Amino acid sequence: MGDYSNMASYYDVIMTSGYYDYAKIVDNLVLQDSVEKVLEIGCGTGLILEELARRKSSVQISGIDLTEPMLAIAKERLKSFKNVALSQQNVCHLSLPSAHDLAFSYGGVWYFVIDGDKEPFLVSHIPDHGANLQGIKKMAQHIAPHGTLLLGIQGPHHNYETVISNGMKYSQKIDPTDIGFTKHYYLSDGAQTLMAQTVKYRTYNFEEAKNMLSAHGFAYIPESRDNKLFLRFSRAP
Ligand SMILES: C[S@@+](CC[C@H](N)C(=O)[O-])C[C@H]1O[C@@H](n2cnc3c(N)ncnc32)[C@H](O)[C@@H]1O
Repeated sequence: MGDYSNMASYYDVIMTSGYYDYAKIVDNLVLQDSVEKVLEIGCGTGLILEELARRKSSVQISGIDLTEPMLAIAKERLKSFKNVALSQQNVCHLSLPSAHDLAFSYGGVWYFVIDGDKEPFLVSHIPDHGANLQGIKKMAQHIAPHGTLLLGIQGPHHNYETVISNGMKYSQKIDPTDIGFTKHYYLSDGAQTLMAQTVKYRTYNFEEAKNMLSAHGFAYIPESRDNKLFLRFSRAP
């Protein structure tokens, strides 16, 4: 279930070679002044949280992630920020002391893919349907009434390879499955394969996703901003 151990030590160099734009992601969180507590679900190595913590020293920031080696890098990266608390947790058993005004996941446990004018669909790192429902329930328990959930938007996945900033070759291959798709990630240096990781994803169409979220009090809030990086949901009072 979404284990990134094999990729952990190469994750930062792959992602910061143009895969994600972390400053733009944090711009898109658009934090109101009233927000005091923020949670990232699937914070990985902490690249988003570092950018956020730099900008918002008065906000209490929590990050959780399933994969210990990813979180170990996040802990080292964020150790000087007193307002950041990280813990190794599977969202399906999420347990934190308080509720948050805002929770988000970008490329983390859940995200949306939007392909041109087509309807968004939800991608989950959790292949089991029951575990998805359990994860959404636990997440909802950690978002305050009237709180906000932001789930990241990505473009469609496709097979490709590219040379990253350290000269190594990153490649990914997508295989459709009956519940979604499997994504194979590789990193190679010349003829040597340094990293291979496979993640099984489950997908839900937009109607299914909205229903799963609304069962736990989240209403979809359409926004017409151009180039937005998140879909917004609001938790019922
Ligand atoms: C592609 S990474 C994204 C990391 C980070 N948000 C970023 O933008 O760099 C996905 C992360 O989700 C985490 N993850 C997957 N399934 C999870 C689960 N059930 N509970 C918590 N974290 C999970 C993985 O361990 C991984 O670190």
